[in-house]
Amino acid sequence: MTTSPVLTVPHHPLLLHKLSLMRDVQTGVKEFRELAAEVSLLLAYEAMRDLETEPVTLTTPLATAAFPMLSGKKLALVAILRAGLVMTDSIVRLVPAAKVGHIGMYRDPETLSPVAYYSKLPADIAERRVFLTDPMLATGGSAVAAIENLKAAGAQSIKLMSILAVPEGVKRVHDAHPDVEIVAAALDDGLNDHGYIMPGLGDAGDRIYGTK
Ligand code: PRP
Ligand code: URA
Repeated sequence: MTTSPVLTVPHHPLLLHKLSLMRDVQTGVKEFRELAAEVSLLLAYEAMRDLETEPVTLTTPLATAAFPMLSGKKLALVAILRAGLVMTDSIVRLVPAAKVGHIGMYRDPETLSPVAYYSKLPADIAERRVFLTDPMLATGGSAVAAIENLKAAGAQSIKLMSILAVPEGVKRVHDAHPDVEIVAAALDDGLNDHGYIMPGLGDAGDRIYGTK
């Protein structure tokens, strides 16, 4: 595992194998979507490692004893549309009591700046730990704008989960929001002239939804 105060990359063989399959141009829509959901679960395992627990007394078929159960702040999963949706849809199965928010945003292909078109967040987001999902952290423009939106709504504790990140995006998020930790399955080399992650996996939204 590579960990800095800013970025955690778990380096788990299962995660890396599934990510390699996602990168393969031969991987079709159905498999890509399933892989994105599985990778998201493995990322959530890492991103939620510091959730608080408290001992709760339970009776097993053989004994009564105290066992750890989740405690502390409740959770919110927030997807950056479209591509982040596959991540929240998957992760909510692990944490079914989490509320789910959506931020609609696409990247202008010319300027690479994010264009916001929708936001619907849990009303009590200030009291929740927020896990923001977007598979691709490229220039970082979308993530920074989404985090601004979350903070304007009162969010105090935000972690960003991405499948792929590049140093440019990590730096941009960290410069703008040093309190936000990032968990990513891999840190790729950088961006090409069109703002795509290299070697990357292509356009995540198009590959998840079969558009293009
Ligand atoms: C992609 C991706 C991120 C964004 C990352 O979304 O899902 O949201 O680009 O790029 P950035 O870090 O440079 O901002 P896209 O604009 O393709 O929208 P989509 O999810 O609707 O396809
Ligand atoms: N958005 C994507 O979907 N892929 C990239 O490589 C960069 C931004």
